[in-house]
Amino acid sequence: MKKPIRRIALSIGGGDAPGLNAVIRAAVTAAANRGWECVGIRDGFNGILQPTHYPKGGVVLLTRDQVRGIAHLGGTILGTTNKGNPFHFPTLNADGTVNDTDRSDELLAYFKREGIDALISVGGDGSLTIANELHRKGLRVVGVPKTIDNDLDKTFTTFGFDTAVSFATECLDRLHSTAESHHRVMVVEVMGRYAGWIALHAGISGGAHAILIPEIAFDLDQVAAKIRERDAEGRMYSLVMVAEGALPLHGQRAVLAPAEIGHAERLGGIGEHVTRELAQRTGKDARVVVLGHLLRGGSPTSFDRLAALRFGSAAVRALEAGLSGVMVALAFPNVNYVNLEEVAGRMKAVPLDCDTLQTGRDLGVCFGD
Ligand code: F6P
Repeated sequence: MKKPIRRIALSIGGGDAPGLNAVIRAAVTAAANRGWECVGIRDGFNGILQPTHYPKGGVVLLTRDQVRGIAHLGGTILGTTNKGNPFHFPTLNADGTVNDTDRSDELLAYFKREGIDALISVGGDGSLTIANELHRKGLRVVGVPKTIDNDLDKTFTTFGFDTAVSFATECLDRLHSTAESHHRVMVVEVMGRYAGWIALHAGISGGAHAILIPEIAFDLDQVAAKIRERDAEGRMYSLVMVAEGALPLHGQRAVLAPAEIGHAERLGGIGEHVTRELAQRTGKDARVVVLGHLLRGGSPTSFDRLAALRFGSAAVRALEAGLSGVMVALAFPNVNYVNLEEVAGRMKAVPLDCDTLQTGRDLGVCFGD
């Protein structure tokens, strides 16, 4: 029989995503309804591991009042980080070099000392892998899947994705008219890391003529041929959607910065390359728009907001039911729980036989293959 829960902690890790505040609101309220106290850790686990960085406290009490009216707000009231892996914490030496330090025991000791019985960890692949490791070390943990990239396995979708796709779609809608007016090629680069979900969904919804995703190595000669074909038919402009992790057939991914201790590599720049090459191959005027972090900002769509509220509440129900080492997942139309073990370290790529991709092909979209 597990010890009854009296106090839980919430931690958000990785890049922010619209819907985080909705998770916080639902989890804190559901916990309060059960008579549990809830604390929020600032910036992943940094609020505990780097307490001096937080003059107002690295761990804050979250009451019903504090989470009122926040479900519609973008960002996160707790902050987040993608540089705070407690198992690979970057420690700066006096000579400027950085050590990879395992500080997970400090974290567990903190939880014990402060009477924190369980953790709700909200994050993407990296944060959920950490959550799984903490569970293995004996902490009661429930994960909540978050990422605009939608690349987490075992859940139909993650919150943040719909908001990112809706915004990117609106951007494409706007670019049609300016591209057409100038008879240009407009290239739109979107985030998504090594998965092409955002590019695929927004590209098809927004009527892109070519969509380049990491799952299909692209040949720019094919894209240039598509643009020429459209020109020949009198449609003198083209929109090309490119995922930041898209892979040229005989080239490399565009990397802005290499991986560091506790921090993944930064992708970006492929849009610039595609634009330059297409201008050269087609002789047309071409421009690039990089949507970048705009995809992570703003209010969550109602779909993401509801998913996030459901996830936050389901995480508390999981803890109440004595579950640990699980992630809340959307198994449309319901939520269920899957083992973190099945999620950690796995990436959900776009399946090449999925109907969304087939739909694109039926609509005449060029995938660069
Ligand atoms: O995982 C979310 C994400 O927005 C990716 O799509 C992107 O590659 C990365 O985070 C960007 O991270 P940062 O905020 O560190 O630039």
